[in-house]
Amino acid sequence: MNSVQKAIEEEVYQIGYIAENIDPTLDLFNEIATLKREKNAIILAHYYQDADIQDVADYRGDSLGLARQAMETDADIILFAGVHFMAETAKLLNPNKKVIIPDLRAGCSLADSCPPYDFKKFREEHPDHVVITYINCTAEIKALSDIICTSSNAVKIVESFPKSQPIIFAPDKNLGAYINKKTGRNMLLWNGSCMVHEIFSLEKISKIHKEYPESKIISHPECEEHVLAISDFIGSTSALLRYTKESESSSFIVVTEPGIIHQMQMLSPDKTFIPAPPENTCACNECPHMKLNTLEKVYLTLKYERPEISIPSHLCEKALSPLIKMLELSRDLSI
Ligand code: 13P
Ligand code: SF4
Repeated sequence: MNSVQKAIEEEVYQIGYIAENIDPTLDLFNEIATLKREKNAIILAHYYQDADIQDVADYRGDSLGLARQAMETDADIILFAGVHFMAETAKLLNPNKKVIIPDLRAGCSLADSCPPYDFKKFREEHPDHVVITYINCTAEIKALSDIICTSSNAVKIVESFPKSQPIIFAPDKNLGAYINKKTGRNMLLWNGSCMVHEIFSLEKISKIHKEYPESKIISHPECEEHVLAISDFIGSTSALLRYTKESESSSFIVVTEPGIIHQMQMLSPDKTFIPAPPENTCACNECPHMKLNTLEKVYLTLKYERPEISIPSHLCEKALSPLIKMLELSRDLSI
C-alpha cells in the first residue's frame, strides 16, 4: 500500500472510530494504563494537551523534550498526544516503531504556512544561505533544511554558525525576529506564524496587568514583537514552566496556549495563573489543533493502534539528518 492509499484508509477508519460509542461506565484512566502495559506502549504528551491526557502520559514536555524521549524509548508503540508534525518527528526518529496519534487531523497553522514547493524555490533563490528550520514544520520541509531547532535550543543552534554565515530561518517569523534581536543577527525570515500566538490581545493583557500589577507577564517567543516587548520573561513551554516554579512572584499572566497551566498549577499549587486572552471574545486562547485530541480518542487509538503515522520513504533519510544534527548539538542543554 503506498502512502496516499494508507492516508485515505486512515481517514476512513478515523471517521468510523470517532463515531464509536464508548461504554460510559469504563474507567478510561484504568483502561489506558492496562493497554499501555499489555502493548508495551508509551504516551508522550505536549504541554498544550488537555489535563486528562497529560495525566495519563508517561512523559509531558516541550518539543525538544518530546523528541529526546521519542529517541530514547524502548516501547514498541508510541502514542503521540500532540499535533501531526510532532508525531512525524517521533516516527522519523523511530522508523521501525509504530507511532500513533489520537486524531490524524491535528495539524498546525505554523507548519501549514510553509508549503514545500514555495519553500524549495525560496531556498534555491538564496544558495549561499544555511537553512535553520523550527521543528514546527512537515517532514518535507525538514528534508529541505540543514538543521532543525526548537524554541528551547534556537539561540544555541543559530549561534553555532559564525556571524558572517547568511541564514534562512523558517517558518516562524516571530520566533525568527526574536532570535535576530537576541543574537544580533539578520537572518532572512520566512513569513509564517502560529494562529494561536498571533492573536493575543496586547490591550487585554495590559488591562489584566493593571488589575494585577504584581503579576509577571510570561510569553512564548512565537508571540508578536509588541507582546514580547511588555513581557517579563520569554521562553519555550518548558522554560516558562521552570520560571513559574523558581520565581518568587506568586501570579503570572500566561501568554501561550493555556494547556501548560495544568503543569504550572501542579508544580506551584499556591500560585495564580491567568491565561492571556486573544483578540476575539474567548477568555483563553486554545490551539484548535491540539484540542482535537481527547481522552476517548487516546483510548481508542491505543486499543486499535490507529491512526498510524507514515512518512514517504524518499523523505525519511533527508528529514532525519537535520533533526539528528539538532539533537547532537543540543545534547548538553538541560530543559
Ligand atoms: P515548545 O513546547 O517547544 O515551546 O513549542 C510550542 C509550540 O508551539 C508547540 O506547538
Ligand atoms: Fe501549531 Fe500554534 Fe497550535 Fe503550536 S500552538 S500546534 S504552533 S498552531
